[in-house]
This record gives sequence, structure tokens and C-alpha cells, in this order.
Amino acid sequence: MKSKLKILLLIDCNFEAKRGYDFKEELKHDDWSAEKTILKTLKDLGHNVSILGLYNKIEPLLEEVVENKPDVIFNQADVFKGETHFDKNIASILELFEIPYTGASPANLMICNNKALSKKILSYHRIKVPQFYTFYKNRKFKHIKKLKLPCVVKPLSEEASRGISQASVVDNETALIERVKFIHENLGHDAIAEEYIDGREFYVSIIGNKRIQALPLREMYFGDMPEDEPRIATYKAKWDEKYRKKWKLLNRSVTNLSPELTKKAQDVCKRAYKALNMRCYARMDIRITPDDIIYIIEPNANPNLQPLDEFARAAGKANITYDKLVNKLLKLAFQRND
Ligand SMILES: Nc1ncnc2c1ncn2[C@@H]1O[C@H](COP(=O)(O)OP(=O)(O)O)[C@@H](O)[C@H]1O
Ligand SMILES: [Mg+2]
Repeated sequence: MKSKLKILLLIDCNFEAKRGYDFKEELKHDDWSAEKTILKTLKDLGHNVSILGLYNKIEPLLEEVVENKPDVIFNQADVFKGETHFDKNIASILELFEIPYTGASPANLMICNNKALSKKILSYHRIKVPQFYTFYKNRKFKHIKKLKLPCVVKPLSEEASRGISQASVVDNETALIERVKFIHENLGHDAIAEEYIDGREFYVSIIGNKRIQALPLREMYFGDMPEDEPRIATYKAKWDEKYRKKWKLLNRSVTNLSPELTKKAQDVCKRAYKALNMRCYARMDIRITPDDIIYIIEPNANPNLQPLDEFARAAGKANITYDKLVNKLLKLAFQRND
């Protein structure tokens, strides 16, 4: 890898920004902290960086690549026309340029964006996942009896806990059907109902291509949330600061998990990463039951890189500072073309 690279930092944008737009104002906001910190880090590392925001047109990306010929693309774009499932299509275009780019492949994104497909592959590799059933829109409900209750009913292809609330956990068939209908009719998504896995929730960040490393575990701590309520990371539990304060919800480093179980969880997550043929970096959402059974709840391709989010914090705990992390991701982008 050259020491001074021409880098295109490709980001999501919720408005049409012309090529060459500097995003100075937007980068002041907390929501843009990943983009801001990555840009600063890449510049501090001595690279020549241009930034491009994707909104609802692909032409600016084609023009930018043809005219500017970047050595590598740092891919932070996963939304197009407001839809997150287009993340795989963005990566597919990057693939056609034959220019190295950071993060997941189109196949990784396609598989991980479908909570049923990723589970089918993992269970083929004998990695434990919750039993599940998919409910597609415009199809008759069948086989509901096969599902063990309680269940968590979620959109099949969403992220960031969108569409997940306490009402997502159902313990009878009527409530299950109701929640599936809610997802079909109000959110416009297919639905998945998964067996509810009771236990502690951890996030395991993984980095690497051929040699992969599992970073220290982080935990979603449910604080004062009543024991008899489903303890799940709903949309509110993740993003509503008032609600998090009220119930003392915290995302934190893991303190009281045995080294053996920690290693076991990291090994399962590394196996899952390999089984899904993931690359560069990913984060696994897992649950460990009171009798120490490890379930993968969700593999995340291209997880959030905000400095205060799970991935960067786990890296920090392993003494991988943010600039080291960015540099590592760049190196991994090149490594795959070896
Ligand atoms: N099968 C399950 N058993 C227990 N909790 C679950 C299950 N599925 C989801 N959850 C809870 O819901 C949260 C969000 O679900 P997840 O599948 O990770 O969706 P998202 O892509 O929105 O993050 C999880 O972090 C977990 O707390
Ligand atoms: Mg998740």
C-alpha cells in the first residue's frame, strides 16, 4: 500500500450534494461523527481525500471515479433513495470499478440484510441461531404452529432496531399475527418471527480477511428494566436517551463473563464470519443463555464506525486506536486484491 493514497470517501447523504461539496456544515453534527472522524483520520495519515455523498443518483459516483481515479474507496454508503437494502447495490457498483474498497462485499450485504437467509447459512454450518419462520407480504400464513413461543417478530430486512418495540415479543398466536400484520401493513416489510432467546446480549466485533481477529466483547446491559419484561434492544432502547436513562440502559465493556466463555463466544463469531465469507470487518449480535449456550442473533456487515459505537470502542479496548483502525481497514481493502 502506498503511503500517500488518493482516497474517495463515499458517504450517505440525505440531500443532493454536487461533486466537490465539502460537507463542512453537516460534519459538525453528531450524526455524522463517523464520516467526520474518518475524513480527519485519513487526512492526518497523509492521504489525499475527496468526499462524495450518495443520495438518489448514481452518476456523480461514476463521474468521480472516471475523472479522479481514486486508488481506494472508503465505503461508508449504505443508503440509496432512502432505502438501506440498496447497500448491496452500491457495493456491486464499486466491485465493477475494480478499485479496492473497504468493507463488505455485495454478497455479504445481501446475506446479512436478510435475517432469514443469514440464519439458514449459519445453521448449515451448525452455528446456533434462533428457530424462525418468515412471513412474506401477500402470502397466506402457514406453519405457525411449528414456532415455539414467545417469539420476536421483526422486519425481515431492516437494521438499527427499526420496527422493534416491546410489542415485538409475543407469547400467543393472535399477538403474533397482529404484529406480523403491523410489519406488513405499517412498515411495508416482510416479517420474520424468531424464537425468543433469553439471556445476556453481547456484540462481538471482528476484523480481518485471511487472518481474523475477534475484538473484546461489549454488552448491552438492561439496567433497571423489569425482569418480567422482555429485555431486548428495541428502537427506543438503542436511540432514545431519555428512555435509556430512565431504565439505566448501558452499552459497556464486559466485566463478569468467564475467560472460557468469552473465548468460546469469540470463536463462534469467527466461525460465523468465515461461514458467511465476510471480509474486512463485521459485528455479530449474540445472546448467551443462562446455561451458556451461544446464539447468533444477527451478523452485521459494515457495522457503524462512529467513534462512540460498538466497533470502535471494542477496537480501542484492544489498543487499536481510531487511526490504527482506519489504516487497518484500508490495508484490508488492498489485501483482497492480492
Ligand atoms: N431471537 C431473538 N431473541 C431475543 N432477542 C432478540 C431476538 N431477535 C432480536 N432480538 C432483540 O432485538 C434486537 C434487534 O434485533 P436484530 O435482529 O439485531 O435487528 P436490527 O437489525 O434491527 O439490529 C436485538 O439486539 C435483541 O435485543
Ligand atoms: Mg442488531
